[in-house]
Amino acid sequence: MTDQYAVVGHPIDHSKSPDIHAEFAKQTNQDITYEAIEAPLNGFVDTITRLAAEGYKGVNVTVPFKFEAYQCANHLRMPAKHAGAVNTLIFSDSNIIGDNTDGVGLVRDIEKNLHKPIQCKRVLMLGAGGAAEGVLHPVLNAAPSQLVVANRSVEKAVKMIEKVKSLVQYSSVDLGANTFDELKNQKFDIVINATSTGLSDTPLPIPNEIFADGCLAYDMMYGRETPFMAQAREAGARVSDGLGMLVEQAAEAFYCWRGVRPETDPVMKKMRA
Ligand code: ATR
Repeated sequence: MTDQYAVVGHPIDHSKSPDIHAEFAKQTNQDITYEAIEAPLNGFVDTITRLAAEGYKGVNVTVPFKFEAYQCANHLRMPAKHAGAVNTLIFSDSNIIGDNTDGVGLVRDIEKNLHKPIQCKRVLMLGAGGAAEGVLHPVLNAAPSQLVVANRSVEKAVKMIEKVKSLVQYSSVDLGANTFDELKNQKFDIVINATSTGLSDTPLPIPNEIFADGCLAYDMMYGRETPFMAQAREAGARVSDGLGMLVEQAAEAFYCWRGVRPETDPVMKKMRA
């Protein structure tokens, strides 16, 4: 029996997930189908209920439904609890299990694919929305020496950090919230753009000095050169988009469902081509 999976979002036409999972299935000889399904904006829970009833084994969840997925899961794994959002649902008997593989995907891309260990590094996270919160714990678990969250509305960054501290004590990490202005005279080894500014091609008001020598500037968006990436490149940083994170989070979801870990390198090369 072929097991069925899908990615659910709105819109969903652009999704690369069906191609990625088709490659994983071929590589690991797993007999699955994986399709893209657009749920109506007010119909996410109905869509999930229908897919579970039809015998699907699991789904990935993308924008704008990651918070609704968190609500509709009746069991949450730790990464989902920490992220406050779900990107992977596992349908098991009558249970809907929620997990989140975004943070693992980001950390693996930075450390394994881009060869930049996070441990003891100074990390700057730009943004304090859902995308930032979704990856904050895994980045902290990788033990940077410092993690600064800078956001346009700094209160949101403060809140996000308070929440993170209430869940886990990261005593070895110097953790703080800054305005963009306060970044002057600070330097970081890794700068992660988790704002949505790439979507609107808006530059961020960040100074060039934040990019230390050998800095990795990582934009969680993929498929285009964002103003953040252009600025970082100009300032001498090594730059990456978020395609690797997309493939790595998919690999982790595939592992959650199938218990088999696909190789990501060949898939990443294929997606880039
Ligand atoms: P997502 O799910 O993509 O994280 P979100 O929760 O709406 O979306 O968060 C968007 C993030 O991008 C926020 O950190 C937002 O800053 P504010 O919290 O101050 O709104 C940030 N952002 C969006 N547009 C921005 C802009 N023009 N300049 C700076 N930051 C921006």
